[in-house]
Amino acid sequence: MSSLVDGELPGTLFHPPPHLERTAHVPGMDTYRRMYAESVEHPEAFWANIAQEFFWKTPATGPLFNWNFDVRKGPIATNFMTGATTNISYNALDRHVACGLGDKTAFIWEGNNHGDEGKITYSQLLEEVSKFSNVLKAAGLEKGDRVAIYLPMILELPIAILACARIGVVHSVVFGGFSADSLAERMLDGKCSVLVTADGVWRGDKFIDLKKIADEAAAKCLAHGHKTTRKIVVKHMGPCPVTQQNGTTNGVLNGNGHDHAKGDGRGKVPRVDRYCSKKHHKELITQWDDQVDWWWHEEVAKVEATCPPVWMDSEDPLFLLYTSGSTGKPKGILHTVAGYMVYAALTFKCVFDYQDDDVYWCTADAGWITGHSYVVYGPLLNGATGIVFEGIPTYPQPDRFWEVVEKYRVTKFYTAPTAIRSLMKFGEEIVLKHDRSSLKILGSVGEPINPEAWLWYHKYVGEERCPIVDTFWQTETGGHVLTPLPAATPLKPGSATLPFFGVLPAVLDEDGHEISQPDCEGYLVFKQAWPGVMRSIYGDHKRYENLYFGKFPGYYTTGDGCKRDKDGYYWITGRIDDMVNVSGHLLSTAEIESALIEHPGVSEAAVVSHPHPIKGECTYGFVTMKVGHVFNKQTVSELKLKVREKIGAFAVPDFLQDAPGLPKTRSGKIMRRVLRKIACGDRALGDISTLADSDVVETLFKLRPSNA
Ligand code: WTA
Repeated sequence: MSSLVDGELPGTLFHPPPHLERTAHVPGMDTYRRMYAESVEHPEAFWANIAQEFFWKTPATGPLFNWNFDVRKGPIATNFMTGATTNISYNALDRHVACGLGDKTAFIWEGNNHGDEGKITYSQLLEEVSKFSNVLKAAGLEKGDRVAIYLPMILELPIAILACARIGVVHSVVFGGFSADSLAERMLDGKCSVLVTADGVWRGDKFIDLKKIADEAAAKCLAHGHKTTRKIVVKHMGPCPVTQQNGTTNGVLNGNGHDHAKGDGRGKVPRVDRYCSKKHHKELITQWDDQVDWWWHEEVAKVEATCPPVWMDSEDPLFLLYTSGSTGKPKGILHTVAGYMVYAALTFKCVFDYQDDDVYWCTADAGWITGHSYVVYGPLLNGATGIVFEGIPTYPQPDRFWEVVEKYRVTKFYTAPTAIRSLMKFGEEIVLKHDRSSLKILGSVGEPINPEAWLWYHKYVGEERCPIVDTFWQTETGGHVLTPLPAATPLKPGSATLPFFGVLPAVLDEDGHEISQPDCEGYLVFKQAWPGVMRSIYGDHKRYENLYFGKFPGYYTTGDGCKRDKDGYYWITGRIDDMVNVSGHLLSTAEIESALIEHPGVSEAAVVSHPHPIKGECTYGFVTMKVGHVFNKQTVSELKLKVREKIGAFAVPDFLQDAPGLPKTRSGKIMRRVLRKIACGDRALGDISTLADSDVVETLFKLRPSNA
């Protein structure tokens, strides 16, 4: 594989294919430069102009765009379209239906298993969203209340999101891979009184009992003082509980012809086509409490199919999305309505160069920000047809991605480097056997893409015809902030290239001074706001100000290091805090440590990042046992189980080793730098003169697991 890299790098520029320019929203570098200059020099005028494409119930009554990023001048704040009112679900649905797009497919659903599939048009989606808004209202929810959503990648996930947005309820989606503890922690922090979930889901050949996890989480919330948690449960596992009426498809999806007509005797309710095919049904012995548990399909059958949107102030909260914090406590990142809407929509349109006939596929789960902005909101706000994919890249076979690309003739494809790397190892034949001629633009997100993976993606998936947009951004930024534009930016494999409109990056040195020469390395920060930037950490504005604006007053600190080359291109070098990026998911080492320490035999634990060929990074834990406890195979499984229970399977460390002592400074600080070296078996430890006891290092080298 390395032959791909030799001779082509470094320094090779990949220019945009000329045919893209003809129809592109941003054709060529001159247009990009002109628009960029306008966006950072006259941000208010630039964004006000973009905002005109959207529907506003009432116009702005104050400044169109202003912000303060400097704690010394007052509270950190960003205001967009001050005093205007709008609704994001109206802009994503009603606006398109009113323009005649009602029959256009909004989402194609491709299930975990072959044959599980369906489609929903814009007008059907509007109806389903309206119905679910009415269900939320029936559950007593009002504007400003919070709802937790813990669903797999089924259409009810975007429906639930949009239904919240329609009535001003703040959604807090929790990725379906999180444990009951993590779900409860997020529900408690967000004071969510309603939880939308499903009975279960297959992910590849693993079954996940979502309802059981939801029940556990609700019980934990109760134990921590929550009054009740109403659960609204999608019946995804069948057998289909509903009875077909007149053979019509009154429901969400057109199923795949499986016989759903039997029902389970729960009474007649309008048909909702379930789409987990019969052979994948699972008889669940679900604990059911009529006092608090509602079936989704039963409730939507009781309500009206229309629901007027609640007109929201531009700066009203839209959603919370929790991201790991370096201290271990997750942060509820708060986004508001108008700025997020305009930014998600414009980045989607420009970065994927959206065209009306696109079939767009972002493989991310809507439990992460990528799914929020680029599965749900960005595409719908543009009237696009998108794919909601429930499965995983390697199930049933490692050609699933390319099979789906061929099946739906996908034009724009957006995935993570970890997925590319995990597929590369199966060889290019499985890509080549599928027709990829529909593809026009490829995207990458979540972590730096190594040039080898970039070139493989470019050559074998994109047939050297498709530009790759390597999009750098964060939960906090709402949308892409550093990214190529496909018909403008010459690409350098591994670089997220240049800033998006309105984004003004800078590189700071250790002392917080801006480095002016292009060629440099340091902390990546942003000097001014863009509409989509987060507004706060839910319930803790001080923490927000300290974390993002405290280290370098006047700047938004990303927490990432970067290099800038002589052409002004940005190259992300990775996190500068104690966060680890595993398969594109940010994990906090502190959070994993606190899970390990809950084991009764453990006295101390230190977790560090460790290079991993597919995941990019993984975690490596050093564990000190209490006197009288031994560290053995069983301890390792118990520790892994702890992390699985406290956070989720995706956070389980790849390596755990016995650490009778940890390398500490005389003041007692763990020297993680030394631990990272030990984990790699690298004896070039650098200066260890501050170590209190240097013998521990030798012991740790001896105890390294043989497979590390
Ligand atoms: C990393 C995901 C390099 C980075 C959208 C950032 C990237 C963190 C890239 C945010 C990229 C994301 N190149 N690194 N193209 N995209 N990152 O909040 O460390 O889950 O700070 O948002 O992912 O992760 P988050």
